[in-house]
Amino acid sequence: MSPKPILIAQISDLHIKAPGSLAYGRVDTAAALTRCVAALNALTPRPDLVVISGDLADTPTEQEYAHLFQLLAPLEIPFVAVPGNHDSRELMRAAFPNPAFPTEGPFNQLHPIRELDVVLLDSSVPGEPHGELDAGSLQWLEAVLSASDQRPALLFLHHPPFRTGIWHMDRQNLRNAADFATVVERYPWVRLVGAGHVHRATTTAFAGTVATICPAPNHAVALDLSEQFAPSFRIEPPAFHLHAWFEGGAFGEVVTHLVPIGTFDGPHPFFGIDGRLL
Ligand SMILES: [Fe+2]
Ligand SMILES: [Fe+2]
Repeated sequence: MSPKPILIAQISDLHIKAPGSLAYGRVDTAAALTRCVAALNALTPRPDLVVISGDLADTPTEQEYAHLFQLLAPLEIPFVAVPGNHDSRELMRAAFPNPAFPTEGPFNQLHPIRELDVVLLDSSVPGEPHGELDAGSLQWLEAVLSASDQRPALLFLHHPPFRTGIWHMDRQNLRNAADFATVVERYPWVRLVGAGHVHRATTTAFAGTVATICPAPNHAVALDLSEQFAPSFRIEPPAFHLHAWFEGGAFGEVVTHLVPIGTFDGPHPFFGIDGRLL
């Protein structure tokens, strides 16, 4: 019996550059991450874990990961990470020495948190913008889910296994989403598939569960669902996801909150000292 929900914060697509460089010549991704870390540290209660769902660096280079590590140092919550298409597995291994990280191949990881399994899947394809879960990764996932004694699981990967309607992102989503779905739908204890890559908050039904895309702390891919438009981005309100798992039902219930990053007016009370609504 869990006395309180298990809280998993998900941040995505940090795109950290070398110090002093702006992403696309315009976006200060380092300042955006600093504001994001402050927002994570301010959460009460504290999340149990932060999942970073890919595109940690931008080019990528050793210098970018060193900068990222510096920017994450003030984070007061343990974090885990999986590569995106802007990352390098080798540079990530060197930058984040962690016994949970595989020593070779895809960065698939299992992180048990009390009653919950947090599963990270490496959908990156070296040198390519699109995603794919290779046969070994799918077998690994199948083995984890079948051996878990029906522990509820949240799965995280960089590339969404579904279309968003934004054409230039959909052509680089998870190529073998159908193979992934075949595994996921066999295990009803998978309660969430959390992706990144599109820099926008999105939700859909997938393989008998719920799939989301986590927004970014920096720039958003422009929302345009027309068939052809020039790929572009906007600076929209930055945000991240907070997934709360509550016990209940066969495998618990997950609710995903969109958490805006910034300084906002409030909180203000609803009720006065007489107990009446103001
Ligand atoms: Fe990204
Ligand atoms: Fe990406």
